[in-house]
Amino acid sequence: MALSLRARLLLWLMVPLAAFVVVTALVSYDAVRHTADLAQDAALLSSARTIGEDIDWDDGRLTANIPPAALEIFESPYQDQVFYKVVVAGKELLGGNPELEGPSRESSQPVFYDSTLDGRQIRVVAYVRQLYDSGKVEPVMVIVGKTQASRHAMLEQLWRPQFLRECLMLALVAALVPLGLTVELRPLMKLKDDLTDRLPMQIEPMRAEGLPWELRPIVDAINQCIAQLKVHTATQRQFIADAAHQLRTPLTLLDTQIQYATRREHDGLVLADVLEGMRRSTRKMTDMTNQLLLLARAESSPSCVHDKVDMSAVVASVLEDLIVAAQRRAIDLGADVADGDADKVYVEGSANLLHALVANLVDNAIRYTQEGGQVTALCKRDGEHVVFQVVDNGPGIPAEARAHVFERFYRGTAPVEGTGLGLSIVREIAHLHHGTVALGQGADSTGLVVSVQLPAWRN
Ligand SMILES: Nc1ncnc2c1ncn2[C@@H]1O[C@H](COP(=O)(O)OP(=O)(O)O)[C@@H](O)[C@H]1O
Ligand SMILES: [Mg+2]
Repeated sequence: MALSLRARLLLWLMVPLAAFVVVTALVSYDAVRHTADLAQDAALLSSARTIGEDIDWDDGRLTANIPPAALEIFESPYQDQVFYKVVVAGKELLGGNPELEGPSRESSQPVFYDSTLDGRQIRVVAYVRQLYDSGKVEPVMVIVGKTQASRHAMLEQLWRPQFLRECLMLALVAALVPLGLTVELRPLMKLKDDLTDRLPMQIEPMRAEGLPWELRPIVDAINQCIAQLKVHTATQRQFIADAAHQLRTPLTLLDTQIQYATRREHDGLVLADVLEGMRRSTRKMTDMTNQLLLLARAESSPSCVHDKVDMSAVVASVLEDLIVAAQRRAIDLGADVADGDADKVYVEGSANLLHALVANLVDNAIRYTQEGGQVTALCKRDGEHVVFQVVDNGPGIPAEARAHVFERFYRGTAPVEGTGLGLSIVREIAHLHHGTVALGQGADSTGLVVSVQLPAWRN
């Protein structure tokens, strides 16, 4: 069960505090009871002594003349009852209440004990005094007992206020902690309102001023997240704007071509030309749309498919697709793919996306290399990695352009059709497969070598 922060904090405070109150209450009750017992026993003894003083020999016999002061000592508003008994030599009752019980043991010292009389609890002291008279010695035992009302009252008066004070403190804590928390949690609630009241597109950092320092890391983390979101949204927005702009060009062209085709009288040959132009425009749009979809797909999959993909099969299939395009430009398209069992070039990922990666690189090489050039796709195992390379002997990419070729819609100056998305797609797919892409120069400083390093499949 999820308890509220209030309840938790309250528990943390109240449980130990309550335990503390109980323990101190017990300890102080014990101390107070001890004090009350001492006071009561002292009063009993002093009363017994006063009675003992007034027992004397009279004509060879002992007489007890109990002074009222001996019992007045107990006078209190609590109406305690006092009993006494004077016994000579352990048997002859000289006076008092015969039912008052004697001590269980004889002692020259005063003996204190608890007893009952008429069903009431009493505290009793037995005190022995030796009385001498012309060679005679008689032990006289004075027993004084009293009910416990004043003792209870004393106990209560001493102990209860203290206990009540501690309970009050406990109640105060129980009341103040939730109140304090409500006040202290206000900044958090403000933070929450600040977040919930935002418009969907309002991606400003949250204000941290006035917040307790414990909350700062949370706000910092949220702000960091917001900053990333902001960058992401900005790139996304830029991407959509760029894509729209790129699609507008062939669309405008198509529009012009359609206007041209409908406005005038044309003979069949001109019309065929116009139609061919229109086909190129729509092809360009189709290519662009396909590339955009591919890029969107590569970007949006947080982790791609985890199939076991044989790169040699992917390369073979791409070369098969592109062999006609290469032949058209008299390009010698070849492959050098390791497929010995020990060297298997398996990687983990999506066959479709890896196909797109290889296709984009080989397609670039075929397009940008001069007619009669050479394009080779290489794939080999390198330790924990599979390395795929496309090598051509074309113009290569000048150093100043290398930093930009991976940007979306960036295009070189070569008069070749394209969307400027190919290498962005390649990089996105490589990253998605936890791989890297690097550009290099060919063996004799001509052409381009694009190397893609992917983690090899692990069994
Ligand atoms: N094999 C290559 N040889 C020379 N230049 C290349 C090669 N591959 C890519 N480039 C350059 O990089 C640019 C970006 O490539 P890419 O992202 O595939 O877009 P696109 O091919 O549609 O222009 C190209 O316009 C071209 O200038
Ligand atoms: Mg390309």
